[in-house]
Amino acid sequence: TPLPDLVIVGAGLFGLTIAERCAEELGLRVLILERRHHLGGNAYSERDPETNVEVHKYGAHLFHTSNERVWEYANRFTSFTDYRHKVFGKYQGQVYSLPLNLALINQFFGKSHTPDEARALIAEQASEFDTASASNLEEKAISLIGRPLYEAFIKGYTGKQWQTDPTELSADIITRLPVRYTFQNGWFSDTYEGLPTEGYTAWLSKMADHPNIEVRLETDFFAVADDYKGKVPIVYTGPVDEYFGNSEGRLSWRTVDLEESVVDTDDFQGTGVVNYNDGDVPYTRIIEFKHFHPEREKTHLPGKSVIVHEYSRFAEEGDEPYYPVNTADDRAKLLKYRDLAAAEPMVLFGGRLGTYKYLDMHMAIGSALSMYDNKLKPHFAEGAELK
Ligand code: FDA
Repeated sequence: TPLPDLVIVGAGLFGLTIAERCAEELGLRVLILERRHHLGGNAYSERDPETNVEVHKYGAHLFHTSNERVWEYANRFTSFTDYRHKVFGKYQGQVYSLPLNLALINQFFGKSHTPDEARALIAEQASEFDTASASNLEEKAISLIGRPLYEAFIKGYTGKQWQTDPTELSADIITRLPVRYTFQNGWFSDTYEGLPTEGYTAWLSKMADHPNIEVRLETDFFAVADDYKGKVPIVYTGPVDEYFGNSEGRLSWRTVDLEESVVDTDDFQGTGVVNYNDGDVPYTRIIEFKHFHPEREKTHLPGKSVIVHEYSRFAEEGDEPYYPVNTADDRAKLLKYRDLAAAEPMVLFGGRLGTYKYLDMHMAIGSALSMYDNKLKPHFAEGAELK
């Protein structure tokens, strides 16, 4: 069989965006290699066969962006519902509206505050530490929001996310802890927000639905690399350390264990996401997926609901890498991998695994569009060197 014009490793949003642009605008023949049994990367979802509720298989995915170009691009493949994401947090038997806002402050301190009174209260409580000289995450957080809110809403949750006491975590894990002195409790503050009307898999499949695009599932690039390396341009969106055989050491990641269950109730928690802020509750969040699509209510099996308990921990070999840990040691290794990547002929590295960066979906699409504009199109349309 003849070689394709371009090989893409990974059928996530980054790889699919590159594939779609190169096939549609440049007429290239694109081969996508994907080692999982499905396309879509971590944004993939499935309908639960019993309840018909759409479940995001790699953790809850909420789409939001302020980037006009990304919004217009995404809307070529799907429409979006008017879902607006909200998050609630449990602490010591109460439920609060997150993120930190005036409703939470009033409820937590048991009294009504004007925005100015709340600002003065938090400023006074935050004066315990100086932000610039904070020596660990706990001191930094207290210097931003004060000890009472820190102990209720950050300490237990962050400790569980990192499986490490916040006094042992680096202060640079957090730069800001915004407090809203209003009752506004939308989780995101982007211009556009919503969920794909027909679901993520319909959206992502449509991106690959082009006669010039072939998606080869259950195919690990490393098993067939000799067929393509050095022979055709490659966009690689897998883990950068793995590409180089972990020669500089493994980059560290956090993973999340997702425990899915069907419960015998129409409504388990009344909303999509509830955080568990108490340190002694082992999970960090419970997701109840049907609440992401209230407009589908009639299509869901009555009397049942799908929930997922999330448990965060450090990833070991074989675990899904979810969030870069990004220690000083990781950053030093990453610099070496970046040099190796820049020197690798005919291969471009992209996406969250290829760059060791947490990317939201709109960022993955946006950075793929930039790679297309700045590297692939100049190469294929104008003969520029690929680097
Ligand atoms: P992605 O990981 O999706 O795709 C890479 C693909 O490459 C995978 O399918 C993998 O199997 C494949 N691959 C790797 N190595 C390979 C090899 N050797 N051979 C073949 N295939 C290989 N974003 C957002 O906007 N809103 C949200 O709410 C969330 N929520 C969220 C929750 C959790 C728990 C996580 C971890 C992430 C999110 N995200 C998110 C981020 C979102 O998942 C992310 O933006 C996209 O997955 C990025 O797409 P990529 O294509 O870069 O990677």
